[in-house]
Amino acid sequence: YYRREWQLIRGVPIVWAFAQNWERIDNFQARCDDIVIATYPKAGTTWMSEIVDMILHAGNDEQCGRDFIYNKVPMLEFWAPNVLAPGTKTLEETPSPRVIKTHLPVSLLPKSFWEKKSKVVYVARNAKDLAVSYYHFDRMNQLHPEPGTWAEYLEKYVAGKVGYGSWYDHVNSWWEKTKDHPVLYIFYEDMKEDPKREIRKVAQFLGKDLGENVLENIVNKTSFEVMKDNPRTNYVTNTAPFFQTDISPFMRKGVAGDWKNHFTVAQNERFDEDYGRKMAGSPLCFRTEDHQP
Ligand code: A3P
Repeated sequence: YYRREWQLIRGVPIVWAFAQNWERIDNFQARCDDIVIATYPKAGTTWMSEIVDMILHAGNDEQCGRDFIYNKVPMLEFWAPNVLAPGTKTLEETPSPRVIKTHLPVSLLPKSFWEKKSKVVYVARNAKDLAVSYYHFDRMNQLHPEPGTWAEYLEKYVAGKVGYGSWYDHVNSWWEKTKDHPVLYIFYEDMKEDPKREIRKVAQFLGKDLGENVLENIVNKTSFEVMKDNPRTNYVTNTAPFFQTDISPFMRKGVAGDWKNHFTVAQNERFDEDYGRKMAGSPLCFRTEDHQP
């Protein structure tokens, strides 16, 4: 049983189902060799999950094809323990090294991750493409409230009244954390521009020295086209009924700059003005154009 609504946890809207029994999140026991993939939703979580899994298995195709991405890289909010199918699986049973994904903002991450100094790979994506991607995701994800029209949705997004709260707070507070925690901060647009360079950075951060051939294999296997056709990453054969990929596919477009097909000129002007205010003083600089080589 689940409701299609958000529930506030310390002021942050969370998927109703995930918000149940929140002590299981607060009391989650991290391990020092956990690898956390943290993102605001739609920033490239699945892409980075597949990359990290391939890095850990040195690109071994058989190993990497062993299971669905949501089992290989379980989501903290879902699996600690599983709120929708209690008793089926817990992250406690997962052997080390665990790769755990989460969309939690810094303020809600279980404190044991900070204490154990677990490594975090954070992926950030520009606010405009992210809004578009999130809008289509809210249409197809049956655990999320209906987004309404694009214009209505954009208002909610800018106000932080969407799942996991404000994009602006999320990206800035995770950036702050790079100062006192092992956080590798990666940009989606940089991954699009030069995936090999960014994958090498992630491998180095995880202490893996990969040869050129392995790196190139990972670049190819994690390209949008390959992941879109891969049943283990595209959610088309998803066993959970929550993603209705006939409404909008999970692997939707996978580009930078799609916002231009959605924002009107007026929406863009208002967005930029508000963005300037909210991001004043932030050292973060996002690219909103397609920079493919
Ligand atoms: P779009 O909706 O803009 O296409 P997340 O995994 O965090 O939910 O993010 C999903 C977004 O990442 C979607 O964006 C999806 O298409 C995109 N994506 C997934 N795999 C990708 C890949 N290999 N390369 C580029 N983009 C990818």
